[in-house]
Amino acid sequence: MRGVSVSTFRSLVRSLQPPARIVDWSIFVGVLLEAGSGLLSLIGATPAWAPLFWLHRAVGLTLIVLLGFKLARVRHRITRASQWQRSTVLSVVTLLTATVVLGSGIVWVFGFAPEIPLFTLLTVHAGLGLLLVVLMGAHLYTRFRPPRRADFHRRRTTIQYSVMLIAGAVTYRGQEILNRLLGTEGADRRFTGSQRTDGEGNSAFPVTSWVADDPDPVETEEWDLTVRGEVDRRLELGYGELTPDTAEEALLDCTSGWYTVQEWQGVRVEELLDASSTTGQASHVRFVSVTGYRWTLPIEEARDALLATHVGGERLSHGHGAPMRLVAPGRRGFQWVKWVERVDVRQNGDPAQWIVTLISGFTD
Ligand code: HEM
Repeated sequence: MRGVSVSTFRSLVRSLQPPARIVDWSIFVGVLLEAGSGLLSLIGATPAWAPLFWLHRAVGLTLIVLLGFKLARVRHRITRASQWQRSTVLSVVTLLTATVVLGSGIVWVFGFAPEIPLFTLLTVHAGLGLLLVVLMGAHLYTRFRPPRRADFHRRRTTIQYSVMLIAGAVTYRGQEILNRLLGTEGADRRFTGSQRTDGEGNSAFPVTSWVADDPDPVETEEWDLTVRGEVDRRLELGYGELTPDTAEEALLDCTSGWYTVQEWQGVRVEELLDASSTTGQASHVRFVSVTGYRWTLPIEEARDALLATHVGGERLSHGHGAPMRLVAPGRRGFQWVKWVERVDVRQNGDPAQWIVTLISGFTD
């Protein structure tokens, strides 16, 4: 009986296994999809983005099956040193990197978040995920074998991949149920994968920077906020001239894998825009940090945003962006500009902001 079930399982797996070249190219396409959905997920902050994270997870789990097929086929070539070629080293490094990327994603889902100096497991996951794209490209280049039309059997290939994707989606549902049953940290994650940090005020959530922004503390007495651009009245306001009379609870979700819900207190951007009287050309608002780091919001969204001076009833700490930081609900943390000193009212968006956010910490 046991012999029968094992052989049944084996033949089921064999029937699911696509031809070798299709497996190889699917792994490459799968990794591209994962890196693409991973990068896109960095701006996904509202529940409308949840399907992108589901896709990322389902494809990620499907990749494990495809890698299993690949390994079953090539294991002899990597376990017998006599069969090693020059490109085998690259293949093994690619395989190890893929294993770490897939493994780190899965253990993160179960709430495993080991302390890693300067990084979190999720940033390691993302960084190695991007490296994997390069390694995969090099691997395919050294072992280039184009897919053949003969390998595609429309009906069988479609069934094979549908079964694998459904298995991936079922597995991740299973993970969520397991998380809840075991009461793991993972059970408390947002759809973005971020884990909740509890408590109020500055010490309740980590001090992180998108890349390397780490300015010296800003002297509040010497600091002022400038509102300029598409305005009739340019404003230069000292800290004492800003009355933090608006309080708002907002969720800050950081791409490094944590989120916090805090009461933020500060000045509604709308008040500043009305006080400076924006012109008819004004369509976007750019928030600029003392480091040069910046982010731009459409003016309607900017009007609802807050420039916070306090969090959880405390004055903002330096690490969290004192004297003033942007609170932009529905945006990921890296768009909540810290150490704000200027508000530019503009006629257009600012695509270059993506590059600026990557280099601002290195330009001092
Ligand atoms: C920029 C690159 C990437 C980012 C930002 C990213 C982000 C994420 C996030 C946020 C999660 C956790 C989701 C959750 O907790 O619900 C996750 C899980 C995962 N990711 Fe990525 N990822 C990236 C690249 C990759 C790549 C290249 C692969 C595959 C080669 C991959 C495979 C996985 C897997 C297998 C999981 C776990 C799925 C599960 O257990 O349900 N990721 N990723």
